[in-house]
Amino acid sequence: MPEPTDDLVPAACRGCKSGVDRRTFLSTATLVAVAAVLDGCTGSTAPSGLFGGSYGGPFTVTLASFGVLATVGGVARVDNGSGAPTALYRSGASSFVALAMICTHQGYYPIDITSSGFFCPLHGSTYNRTGAPTGGFSVSNLQSFSTAYNASAGTVTINRPS
Ligand code: FES
Repeated sequence: MPEPTDDLVPAACRGCKSGVDRRTFLSTATLVAVAAVLDGCTGSTAPSGLFGGSYGGPFTVTLASFGVLATVGGVARVDNGSGAPTALYRSGASSFVALAMICTHQGYYPIDITSSGFFCPLHGSTYNRTGAPTGGFSVSNLQSFSTAYNASAGTVTINRPS
């Protein structure tokens, strides 16, 4: 293949015209792009905080401490930084759903609370408020914990494992 002349080579490439031909450049760029995608899917770029510790055990939430839980449909993170990140969703006047805010794709945590449920910023999986996957890579529900509502005390005990 003949060397390109300066009038056919963009100014930014002059001086490198004998280094890399178009085919080599494209194949290298493709390998770099594939490597970046695989890297993102293996979790090697995940934040250092991938969940690996204990769940922290059961705990009791005082509803008055989380204003959004006064209304049916409200969701709040309620663990106060202790143990596994845990969300509480008020699914009815006296019913609640407690969920681990740990993505079931590759374990990223804490996932974000959104207006429609949850979003994992690592690869974009989404879940509804009851923890069912609604998009992205994840195919399984967020882990749920049983709850016990005490209406007179205004509390919900979340039976999170140790
Ligand atoms: S860890 Fe991959 S989408 Fe959450």
